[in-house]
Amino acid sequence: MRIDIITVLPELLKSPFEASILKRAIDKKLVEVHVHNLRDYTDKSYNQVDDYQFGGGAGMVLMIEPIDKCISSLKRDRKYDEIIYMTPDGDTLNQKTSNSLSLLKNIIILCGHYKGVDQRVRDTLITREISIGDYVLSGGELGAAVLCDTIIRLLPGVLNDETSALTDTFQDNLLAPPVYTRPREYKGLKVPDILVSGNFPEIEKWREEQAIKRTIERRPDLLEE
Ligand code: ADE
Repeated sequence: MRIDIITVLPELLKSPFEASILKRAIDKKLVEVHVHNLRDYTDKSYNQVDDYQFGGGAGMVLMIEPIDKCISSLKRDRKYDEIIYMTPDGDTLNQKTSNSLSLLKNIIILCGHYKGVDQRVRDTLITREISIGDYVLSGGELGAAVLCDTIIRLLPGVLNDETSALTDTFQDNLLAPPVYTRPREYKGLKVPDILVSGNFPEIEKWREEQAIKRTIERRPDLLEE
């Protein structure tokens, strides 16, 4: 899979891809992530990429021309399955969306800034709009990093234990059951006996019950879907 990210703040997208699982996935060539600075696609002085909004009002708007130039130059080299705009008024990200995006070959992610982008970008260049939640970030970069993390960890070969993404919270619309590790007892707090019983069918049953119990208590909305 190849992910191209378009941003006015490329520095903000460095560290997520230089550590942990994401770095390993890139090093193993399971994914390519390319970050493009929008300012490299403007002819204007001071590398201007934004301007005041027509009709007045506070806040700058990213202009269509550099965005169009950047997306067009990427499209000349390959076909893209989705061109995603990160925005708080997009569809809220969930595991189902990440699962389906992880099956694609090439995607572009455009990060918004300031008051957003010229509406004509959204009308003509963007195929999908995604929000990471009902709150406003300073820009789309942290949202793009979250989106990339959720996608990349699902790619085959990225997680050591191939089953571990399948048992994640939200897969099957269930929250994950509680987990424990050593010691078996800490300050009087004991690990449930069943987990140290060695009875694997019973352990599996217990985990399933716990997952359902936790989902009913915390996220009953997931069970209605
Ligand atoms: N840009 C600003 N806020 C955002 C959000 N909640 N999700 C995605 N992109 C954003």
